[in-house]
Amino acid sequence: ADERESMYLVSGYAQKYFSEVLWERELGKAIGLSYFKERGFTDETIKKFELGYCLDQWDSFSKTALNKGYRLEYLEKTGLSIVKSDTNDPTNSRTFDRFKGRVMFPIHSMSGRVLGFGGRILSSDKKAAKYLNSPESDIYHKSKVLYGIYYAKQAIAKEDNCYLVEGYTDVIQLYQRGIHNVVASSGTALTPDQIRLINRLTKNITVLFDGDAAGLRASLRGIDLILEQGMNVKICTFPQGEDPDSFAKNNSLETVREYLTENSKDFIQFKASLLVKEAANDPIKRADTVRDIMNSISKIPDKIQKEVYIQECAKIMNISEAVLFNTLAQLGKKGA
Ligand code: CTP
Ligand code: MN
Ligand code: MN
Ligand code: MN
Ligand code: MN
Repeated sequence: ADERESMYLVSGYAQKYFSEVLWERELGKAIGLSYFKERGFTDETIKKFELGYCLDQWDSFSKTALNKGYRLEYLEKTGLSIVKSDTNDPTNSRTFDRFKGRVMFPIHSMSGRVLGFGGRILSSDKKAAKYLNSPESDIYHKSKVLYGIYYAKQAIAKEDNCYLVEGYTDVIQLYQRGIHNVVASSGTALTPDQIRLINRLTKNITVLFDGDAAGLRASLRGIDLILEQGMNVKICTFPQGEDPDSFAKNNSLETVREYLTENSKDFIQFKASLLVKEAANDPIKRADTVRDIMNSISKIPDKIQKEVYIQECAKIMNISEAVLFNTLAQLGKKGA
């Protein structure tokens, strides 16, 4: 526990250091702060989310932290520093800043402690990953964290709904626009632990998909996990080429609210219409589709809710309820 406390401390220090670089240092202002301003973030937003910048130098953060008395062991365990030994001389090692040259998004726990970071590259250098994240550690478990939960928790409970987006900037831009009940899975497939975090605050999730929708079908599968926890899921898609970030940046709060209300569709209905469209008149595809949707419905713990969905799907897919109930029973036998 002492060890984890030391990791929390060094992570908190790193957040303060990266923010200080962003606001106080010439290079931080010229590169990091201008970047966030170009994205449309206000000073207030940048401060609220504790954004920062890691200088494009090999070890300026690590050096400063070590000088302040933070131990290399914890810098390394949190992944903030990378220690490389010289292959020719193993007694000689060098310490590097993992997030060199990136703008920093601290990732907070439900109670506001810094657990880790996402760092975005600024150049359009295609060789490096756009986002680099803290590695798994004793304090940062990627599968148990939702970006933004610390800022969103009260609004989620108050609105009795949680918007789930893909990325850091989607959360920040929506929040700045005035929609505070929003968190991100940070690009990874949604996990049961992440859903449980939301489940403590509300039974309602609205998933906001990027307009590129490349992985839409794959992402739909992850949503069954939400149904399994007895929660209600809605889906809202964005126009081609837009994500919640760009949409919130370019539209008023009223327009964004209106868009979300008008385009949020019940998950099962959304999936049924989408798959029906895809399968068109191909009977084999249609059969797959029916099984796919029934598989989602089979995850719903509540019997009455299940039945209501079957009635709706029968209409959307133009199939008798009896056949659908039968399909559901078959799925049950396979132990799906
Ligand atoms: N992500 C990641 N590593 C990558 C790409 C993406 O961890 N190489 C995660 C980040 O949390 C990112 C999210 O997946 O925020 C969504 O990815 P994407 O839509 O590509 O990025 P945006 O959030 O839209 O980022 P930006 O607007 O800055 O390009
Ligand atoms: Mn742990
Ligand atoms: Mn995307
Ligand atoms: Mn995106
Ligand atoms: Mn984006």
